[in-house]
Amino acid sequence: MSFDVNAIRKDFPLINDEVAYLDNAATTQKPECVIKAISDYYRTSNANPMRGLYKLSVAATDAYENARSKVATFINAADPSNIVFTRNATESINLVAETYAMANLGEGDSILISIAEHHSNLLPWQKVAAAKGCKLKYIDTDENGKITVDAFKAAMTPDIKFVSINQISNVLGTLNPVKEFSKIAHDNGAKILIDASQSVPHIKVDVADIDCDFLVFSGHKIYAPMGIGALYGKKELLEAMPPFLRGGEMIDYVTRDSATFTEVPHKFEAGTVNVEGAAGLTAALDYVDSIGIDEIAKREEYLTKIAFEKLSSVPHVKILGSSDYIDHHGILTFVIEGVHPHDIAYIMDSDDVCVRAGHHCAQPLMKHLGVMSTTRASISFYNTEDEIDRFVRSVAGIRSKMGYAE
Ligand code: ALA
Repeated sequence: MSFDVNAIRKDFPLINDEVAYLDNAATTQKPECVIKAISDYYRTSNANPMRGLYKLSVAATDAYENARSKVATFINAADPSNIVFTRNATESINLVAETYAMANLGEGDSILISIAEHHSNLLPWQKVAAAKGCKLKYIDTDENGKITVDAFKAAMTPDIKFVSINQISNVLGTLNPVKEFSKIAHDNGAKILIDASQSVPHIKVDVADIDCDFLVFSGHKIYAPMGIGALYGKKELLEAMPPFLRGGEMIDYVTRDSATFTEVPHKFEAGTVNVEGAAGLTAALDYVDSIGIDEIAKREEYLTKIAFEKLSSVPHVKILGSSDYIDHHGILTFVIEGVHPHDIAYIMDSDDVCVRAGHHCAQPLMKHLGVMSTTRASISFYNTEDEIDRFVRSVAGIRSKMGYAE
């Protein structure tokens, strides 16, 4: 379809000309069709799924399982049973850490992550390393915020048995060549998890092509509700992993002293599941498909280029990461000389521009970059050239509002 941003903006109740919403890496706004799918679920199909033998419960089960099939198709997984629903990417990573890693890693083994990981792809591995006596190793980004294939190869020492790495950094916007990383990890006998939280909403992600062992993302960053996320896993790995949470709907048979567990993916989905979230996720992925992920990528690349060029020309502003817009994938993290990021964000809020300030849940990366905190603008396809201008005008006015002569 040809890209009609004005029509698209009308799909989102919270997107309007009053406020420029540029915090899309934190969470995206929701289109009407997603809000309607949630409401329709409660109006037409609500019952406890999986358990009931009556029609309403079957409808709830169908809504949930349709979402699983939709996610599988969206990321090109071989089968819906490769997809486990979780609350978000954080829970998906914790699931793999607590089950696969706790069961398979031990003394002498190492886990490799990058310095540019979100805390959710760091803290679970710190816990595994402490519990299992293995080492947590880091690969640093270079002066352009990148990790090259050669650097990754050099970091893959024989002790590394697990790699967990983002596809796009939530701070720098840099895209890691995860297909190449996957091959190198496998050649080294290691498993690899890809944190695709910042990539799935913006570029085509294909798990078969990447050949990763696990991949995770959150629904709310791709126009779906909060509280639903996905874990993709290779079937033989999921089958061999012990359960994560225990309780209803994940068992085969229970005696007074023991239990056997049902098949994947249900083995990992204890308790009553989030059907409204799943229904919203289906609607969100259908919506993205109706625009086309390649159209979205193209539009966001165009907006990133404009934003990068304009922001680069503002005096006293430094954009972190690559000096080429093409590496930023909608994410512009910056500092303004002499102004604290919290002051920047407050002033920008008074100009009705929403950005995020702080360490972005990536404190080791902040230290590596030599900053305490930063401000981040993050773009979605529904943003406009006008909003970018407004953002840059707001940034340009900040130092004078803080009392600087220039
Ligand atoms: N992970 C989200 C971010 O980077 C919250 O903003």
